[in-house]
Amino acid sequence: MDERVRDGQARAPSAAGLDKSAFVPQLFDRIADHYDLMNLIMTAGVWRRWQAAFRRRCGVPAGAQVLDIGCGTAELSLLLADMVGPDGRVCGVDLSERMLEVGRRKVEASPHRDRVRLRQGDALELPFEDGSFDAAASAFVMRNVADLDRALAEIVRVVRPGGRVAILELSHPPASVVRVPYLLYFRHVLPQLGRWAARAGLPVAPYAWLPLSLQTFPGAEAMAQRMAAAGMEEVRFHRLTAGIVCLHTAHLARR
Ligand SMILES: C[S@@+](CC[C@H](N)C(=O)[O-])C[C@H]1O[C@@H](n2cnc3c(N)ncnc32)[C@H](O)[C@@H]1O
Repeated sequence: MDERVRDGQARAPSAAGLDKSAFVPQLFDRIADHYDLMNLIMTAGVWRRWQAAFRRRCGVPAGAQVLDIGCGTAELSLLLADMVGPDGRVCGVDLSERMLEVGRRKVEASPHRDRVRLRQGDALELPFEDGSFDAAASAFVMRNVADLDRALAEIVRVVRPGGRVAILELSHPPASVVRVPYLLYFRHVLPQLGRWAARAGLPVAPYAWLPLSLQTFPGAEAMAQRMAAAGMEEVRFHRLTAGIVCLHTAHLARR
């Protein structure tokens, strides 16, 4: 793992040159047991509102076969399982075996356990045939992948013609009145949370990685262009919480 990230010293500043494919799965393996708790703390619970917005706007229909890319601890997979109903199915893939282990426990304990299966797989080389799914979804993954365009191309490959795509990800707030406090939060509050987490025996790496991973991630308009360039149609985006998070949706051409 990159030393700056491992030691929580990554305030300095560049994500360029980090080998994401090497350390991202290790990082999530390390934090898997605390991931849901940290998510709750770091987002101050707003994650629930983002989930509600995702449910309203993602356009995944009942009965769909859906792929959840970078499913992690299966939060989105379980939401999708609720949405697709008894005739639908959700397949979650993730690189991190430890995140999947936590996710499998949650799936087993859920009333939707028969609708969800989780397996290891790489967003850059999805282990599925072309056109296997009616829809693909992903939450807070795309800024972690080593090659965004390749991940988008893989989505286009595994979703059937006319299928649906919904990508939720952190973004860059357009208004400086939001952007400035947001950057302050990233640079000052998150490291402090990291220090408290370290004192409580939790790993600090994610607090350091989060701002770095966003540095090289495109803004909402640029992300929409990348999705269109990958072959997606009707690409739309909805900024949530003043643009801190963005939900991108699209259809694939009916061919
Ligand atoms: C921030 S977590 C998000 C997890 C989950 N989607 C959620 O919303 O809670 C990012 C997840 O993406 C996974 N990931 C990162 N790069 C990946 C890749 N190339 N292929 C598959 N999963 C990946 C990580 O292992 C991690 O579980």
